[in-house]
Amino acid sequence: MTRNLAPWRDAGQARKLAGMKIDVVPLPRMLTDEQVRGRVVVVFDVLRATTTIATALANGAREIRVFDSLDAARTAAAAYVGDDKLLCGEIKAKRPPGFDLGNSPGDYTSAVVRDKTIFLSTTNGTRALVAARQGVVLLTGALVNASAVANALATMDRDVTLLCSGTDGQIAPEDLLGAGAVLFALMEQHNPGAQIDALASDALERFRRARHILLDTLLETQGAKNIFAAGLPEDVTFASGFNSNNIVPQCDGSTMIIRKVPG
Ligand code: MLT
Repeated sequence: MTRNLAPWRDAGQARKLAGMKIDVVPLPRMLTDEQVRGRVVVVFDVLRATTTIATALANGAREIRVFDSLDAARTAAAAYVGDDKLLCGEIKAKRPPGFDLGNSPGDYTSAVVRDKTIFLSTTNGTRALVAARQGVVLLTGALVNASAVANALATMDRDVTLLCSGTDGQIAPEDLLGAGAVLFALMEQHNPGAQIDALASDALERFRRARHILLDTLLETQGAKNIFAAGLPEDVTFASGFNSNNIVPQCDGSTMIIRKVPG
């Protein structure tokens, strides 16, 4: 299947926004075939993989190649010819030995990532992307780019699945919050008539309740506690920056390369 970047832009189809169906899936293992095939899938790992991906692209990274294991990322980076590469990822929230960067979005500054090819493996986020690779369009979302992702979804005549990565097989409330933020932006600004499932209603309500206290809400999560235990509290603050960038990261499901949708 060909998955050009932004294939919806030249689809020339009438938009049927009011009939758009949106499901939220709380964990990759709960994803059904029907929720992937023919749909746009947006993957959330607010703490921290999809926050990091949006930040790296906002700061000029050329592309992010994602892997479902540290070994696979290491092997691909070793085989890559060129000195523009960065090997990145985390294990138990920390930078793995021999890696250039961990998974702290604040480390992906322009000075570090501009024009770089990033090889990334994280515990949950990159694995969720791999699980959703059959989606007709595969995006990543977070609080930092929620409105940008919502604006992109509003241009597509497709049903949507918002897939939360979770933390070590458990539902992660911060991912539901990220999904709720995209739903909020989409329904307030574009499509109040979208048909959302029960979990999507729950995610939307979570975001509505938390939108003026995002940092405090993130701080209550197990994901934030793990990041604090790793000595990286600033990462939680970073992830709470609602709409701090306008990047729409799109993953090609056949190559698992993420680039930003040209804006
Ligand atoms: C993940 O993909 O599991 C997370 O982003 C974990 C983390 O950043 O610590």
